[in-house]
Amino acid sequence: MDYYAVFGNPIAHSLSPTIHTQFAKQTGMMIHYEKIRAPIDGFAQSAKLFINRGGRGFNITMPFKIEAFNLATKHTTNAKTAGAVNTIKVSGNTLIGENTDGIGLINDLCKNLNIDLKGKIVLILGAGGASRGILLSLLREKPKRLMIANRTTSKAIQLAKDFSAYGKTCGFGLDKIKNTPVDLIINTTSAALNNTMPKIANGVACGAICYDLMYAIQTPFMRWAQDNGANLVVDGLGMLVEQASASFEFWTGEKPDTHQVLKKLRDKMR
Ligand code: ATR
Repeated sequence: MDYYAVFGNPIAHSLSPTIHTQFAKQTGMMIHYEKIRAPIDGFAQSAKLFINRGGRGFNITMPFKIEAFNLATKHTTNAKTAGAVNTIKVSGNTLIGENTDGIGLINDLCKNLNIDLKGKIVLILGAGGASRGILLSLLREKPKRLMIANRTTSKAIQLAKDFSAYGKTCGFGLDKIKNTPVDLIINTTSAALNNTMPKIANGVACGAICYDLMYAIQTPFMRWAQDNGANLVVDGLGMLVEQASASFEFWTGEKPDTHQVLKKLRDKMR
């Protein structure tokens, strides 16, 4: 039996054990995957205990992704550019840090939803950790322009600058969003936690694909998108399953079938 886990706080509602257990079944691997609620000030210690118990790898979710970056002794390019780690593979004494969030989003958009990002205009709402984690993968798809709009303007400008080597990026405040449609809007803000959404020009959603990184709830952003003529409104459940699949492959070399798992989760949530 190989041991894997997800660390977070809170972690009770994590779907990762369900997803990875189904991946293991599909691929015929003997895997035990558990959720571990690390104390807010005790992530590294918890992770080390798990490694000493024989853990082969683990996922990391809020609020430990930056600490996980610091715990890793080697980093993939995705992890380095994201400045955060959501997957660690234990390889002897080396802890390899990866970030599969961006791959997860792209696989959901391009593979599951059949969207081609090449030449498209993309607007990202938010300039925090979640936004940083998906930028490299998005820019690799060669959009025409990638705009980052944030409540705190300086953070959007800085983030756009940090990624300018990978494609055409620009950053500005939410109030500078024009009232003209774009192809894709991705909400990475945590505004839904307060049951709100960033105040932005309504016309930007008309005909757009509107994607929220949150899942399991209909967020105010999703409702706003529907009310303002979006072509398609999507939550982040597909991204969750796809990032899990990329982690599973990173650990085991096996590529699970995500469609089955995503369908089951969607059916369960209806
Ligand atoms: P995460 O790791 O989830 O990205 P974060 O780094 O704290 O979390 O970033 C949260 C993001 O949501 C930020 O872009 C934040 O805007 P600020 O940089 O101005 O703080 C954004 N955000 C949170 N609540 C918001 C709200 N009510 N309206 C607009 N943006 C909001």
